[in-house]
Amino acid sequence: MKQVTERFEVDLWDGEGAMPRDRLLERIAGKVGAITLLTEQVDGAFLDAAGPQLVIVANYAVGFDNIDVDQCTKRGILATNTPDVLTETTADTAWALLMAAGRRIAEGDRFLRSGTPWTWGPEMMLGQDVHGKVLGVVGFGRIGQSVARRAKGFGMSVRYYDVFRPSSDVERELNAEYRELDELLAEADFVSIHVALTPETRHLFGPEQFRRMKPTAVLVNTSRGPVIDEAALVDALRADELFAAGLDVFEREPEVHPGLLELDNATVIPHLGSATVETRDAMGFLAVENLTAALGGRRPPTLINPDAWERREGG
Ligand code: DGY
Repeated sequence: MKQVTERFEVDLWDGEGAMPRDRLLERIAGKVGAITLLTEQVDGAFLDAAGPQLVIVANYAVGFDNIDVDQCTKRGILATNTPDVLTETTADTAWALLMAAGRRIAEGDRFLRSGTPWTWGPEMMLGQDVHGKVLGVVGFGRIGQSVARRAKGFGMSVRYYDVFRPSSDVERELNAEYRELDELLAEADFVSIHVALTPETRHLFGPEQFRRMKPTAVLVNTSRGPVIDEAALVDALRADELFAAGLDVFEREPEVHPGLLELDNATVIPHLGSATVETRDAMGFLAVENLTAALGGRRPPTLINPDAWERREGG
């Protein structure tokens, strides 16, 4: 933050929670740069409110579905995100959810806290083995590949689906085989979602996909909530079409479907994918680096819309 406050006049929102939209639109007026969170919608109204002097929107997140990138590009406004620095941490979170949901960790914790009398029994709270199983990774970019890398230590085999295929070296290194989505869903014991939210991936998982999965399968989502039709997931979990789900993200954040909160086979955490001290610092440094580069006339290191840069450079 010091790098910014020493060089620029800063208008900082340090109120509780996300900045209310009306205040955001008021306070963005006349600014040359903005560091935004995924709770801020950077759309036409935001860009209009900011004005033509706006140079950069530096998103403090790898996902940028909160930014209308086309609108930014048309106006020559640079948009950046924070990739790489959160890859490993988010992969760790996906694994934490995978293990927790598969082995009923949060349910066990709730059970003990409820004070219910218990004695050890051979059939008490049985979960699913993780080791030696098939991991299906949907979205095989940086985070998906890191999740797959961890599967080696559990002796799992990996299937992946993505619209982009990595090189065969990556497939070999991760011992990962490509499958069409339907095939992957039928084969995998654990399915972890790592796609960006786009019109194509909205509700990529709905009733049909849940029906294709094994009734013993565990679904994990650390990407974006709307990739899953949450109401359909509640129905599928209730009907034991799936064994369990581990969710970090929700369709209408910060709301969580009330059905999920009632279900013991849903492990839910509040969008903590990248939430470690080290990673959040790194994300902050990268967002600031992007901002200061752009305001200093340099190309930001993690630019989402290179066309906007060309447009600015071309005058
Ligand atoms: C992101 O970066 O997109 C996460 O959802 C928050 O870290």
